[in-house]
Order: sequence, then C-alpha cells, then structure tokens
Amino acid sequence: MTTSVDATARPATQRLREETRDLHTAAEKGPYQAAMVMGRLPRAGYVAMLEQMLLVHRALEAGLERARAGSPAIARVVTREQYQEPYLLEDLAYFGIDPDAIEATGATRALVEEIERASNDPLTLLGMHYVLEGSNNGNRFIAKALMKAYDLTPPDGLCYMLPYGERQPEVWSAFKTNLDACGLGDEEVTTLVRAAEAMYRGIIAIHASLQERMAERV
Ligand code: HEM
Repeated sequence: MTTSVDATARPATQRLREETRDLHTAAEKGPYQAAMVMGRLPRAGYVAMLEQMLLVHRALEAGLERARAGSPAIARVVTREQYQEPYLLEDLAYFGIDPDAIEATGATRALVEEIERASNDPLTLLGMHYVLEGSNNGNRFIAKALMKAYDLTPPDGLCYMLPYGERQPEVWSAFKTNLDACGLGDEEVTTLVRAAEAMYRGIIAIHASLQERMAERV
C-alpha cells in the first residue's frame, strides 16, 4: 500500500458505487442489455454474449490469478469461486459452442488488450473485477427473463447468470466487506474507480458490437 488512509474517507465500495452510477445506468439501458432483460433478445444473441464474456473473463481471471501472490488486496477479496470462466464453459457446452472457435468482436479484443496491459497493476485488475462481480446482482433478475424466453431450467445455460444461486446476496456482501477492510488509500481507490469505469465502457462497447453484428447477420 503506497498511500495513507484517511479515516474520514468514504469506503472504497461506496466510492465505486457512487462514482460509477452513471455508467451502470448506461450499461443497464443499452439496447442489447435492455432487450435481454425484457426477454426479447434472440437466443443466439444471448449465446453470443456468453462467447464474448468468456474471452473477457479468461483474460481477467488469468491476470488476477497471476497477481494474487503479490497483492494482499486480491488475496483478501478475490476467491476462486468468483472466477466465471468455468461457468461460461459449461453454458457454452450446453449450447453446443466450441470455445476455441469464438470470433472476438473488435470491442472484445480492445478490452482484452486493456486487461493484458494492466497485468502489472493489481488494483486495476481488481477494479475491473468489481464490475463483473457486481453485475451478478442484476444477472439474478435477468436470468428470470431468460428462463422464460428460452425455456431454460437452471443450471442449463444459466451457470454464468446464476453462479451462486440463492447465496448471491451474501457472496456480494462478503466481497464488499473484504474490499473495504483492505484499508486502501484515496489514490488507490481512485485507481479502482478508473478501472471500473474502463470495464463498464468495455462491456458497453461489446454489447454495441454484438448489436451491430446481429444487425449485419439478419
Ligand atoms: C438490465 C441490466 C441490469 C440490471 C437490471 C441491473 C440491476 C442491478 C441491481 C438491481 C443491482 C443491485 C443494486 C443494489 O444492491 O443496490 C446492481 C448492481 C450492480 N450492477 Fe447491475 N444491472 C444490470 C446490468 C449491469 C451490467 C451490464 C453491469 C456491468 C457491466 C452491471 C454491474 C453492476 C455492478 C458493478 C453492481 C454493484 C453496484 C454496487 O457497487 O453496489 N450491471 N445491478
């Protein structure tokens, strides 16, 4: 830890939540995401999202795993249960997709490169991870729409959307408690916030790229 801790500072999770609120709204209200939550996205669109997210999670989780030994914050906050690559592989197998044949969109390639550039910056990786881990809060609700729209019965095709089942609120609560207990200084939390912003922008761009790809293929 390089910066001092100000006892009056807002907890890291409060800053993350407050300072990325507008980006959350933008991610939630994008047409691709909105169609998914309304159960109006074609099934192929959902599967395409899982494909791109595999590439993102694979890069990020490999980075977190490599950084774990040298980063007390990652060691404290990130449990291996939070890695989503295995769930994505299960879902893609259910839909008959070969994970080695996935074609990344330009936006996915850009985000993966951004993650790889952060390989020596554990707090950037952690800030990015916060966004994906936090998205499980919304995914619980989206899963309900998907079950109906595609006639899915969990866990079939829904491992990624429901990684913790009923335990989701308690896993998220532990994530936040552990992050706030790291005692990160103001500048360090600013690094988390910048990284979270980058992840939100990357996911928004991926959704837009999938929307374009879908329009081209119709
Ligand atoms: C229609 C889509 C979405 C819905 C309905 C939704 C809904 C929610 C809900 C209900 C929460 C819990 C808020 C709370 O406990 O106060 C939440 C939190 C969160 N969501 Fe979403 N979400 C959506 C999309 C996304 C996307 C696409 C991302 C990431 C790119 C994302 C990232 C997060 C994060 C990081 C949090 C935690 C915020 C915090 O720090 O408390 N969400 N979302």
